[in-house]
Amino acid sequence: MNELDFYEERKDWNFSKFEIEAESLTNWDLFKILNEVATKDSRILDLGTGGGEKVLKYFPECAEILGTDLSVEMIKTANQNLKISGRKNIEFRLMDNLKMDVPLDYFDIVVARNTVSDPSQIYKCLKKGGILLIHGVDMFDCHSLKLMFGRGQAFNDKKPISIIDYENVLNANFKDVELVPIYVREFFKSKYLFMEFLKSVPILDDFSEETGIFFKREIDKKIIDKYIEENTYDGKIKLLRRYYGITAKK
Ligand SMILES: C[S@@+](CC[C@H](N)C(=O)[O-])C[C@H]1O[C@@H](n2cnc3c(N)ncnc32)[C@H](O)[C@@H]1O
Repeated sequence: MNELDFYEERKDWNFSKFEIEAESLTNWDLFKILNEVATKDSRILDLGTGGGEKVLKYFPECAEILGTDLSVEMIKTANQNLKISGRKNIEFRLMDNLKMDVPLDYFDIVVARNTVSDPSQIYKCLKKGGILLIHGVDMFDCHSLKLMFGRGQAFNDKKPISIIDYENVLNANFKDVELVPIYVREFFKSKYLFMEFLKSVPILDDFSEETGIFFKREIDKKIIDKYIEENTYDGKIKLLRRYYGITAKK
């Protein structure tokens, strides 16, 4: 299975079904910043929008929002979710983040959350003074779990993806570039919910944005049971997440 097949099969990024309790240890919040910098006149582009879940729930009401994704199934879901939401001034359509076909000097804000992006292409479509907001899964995310399995997303990467993104943003000529670590404790109420979550994300797969490798792997039940035994607190299974955020200005 390649990476795109994985997204086509998934069809959405609705995480509410896993009932995760998240406790943030840091205070960088993409949606909070987005809502602070946007005005009613803003034009916002959301790259790798998935099923539009985040746009429809957390993005502000404004002049125009375009959400794009490489996966046909994700865009189908996004359009279904849009209809149900009744929200206005939002469009979802197909686009490869690495072959962007949007107008130049057009958007006030571009968001790339947990998806691949090319800062030099983003730079071109932003207006002068426009803002770029990136959120990503960093090296060492769920590291103790990956150590037990001896594998996982970014497990063998030489350079953290956060640093690669940060350097790409700087090299694309952005100003006021800031890279911020984001640490979150996630708790799962049951082994069933934890397993369903792990099966639906590439955390334990051979997945590297650095090398472009994606290979779906089976989850060994004995190892997972050991992890659960060692990481259960008040009946809840803990997973330590490590993300990063980047803010930048054209
Ligand atoms: C982990 S999901 C994130 C979805 C959403 N941004 C969120 O934060 O919930 C990654 C999304 O990026 C999309 N994607 C991956 N590579 C892409 C590319 N080259 N161009 C556009 N979208 C891509 C996938 O189809 C998937 O929907």
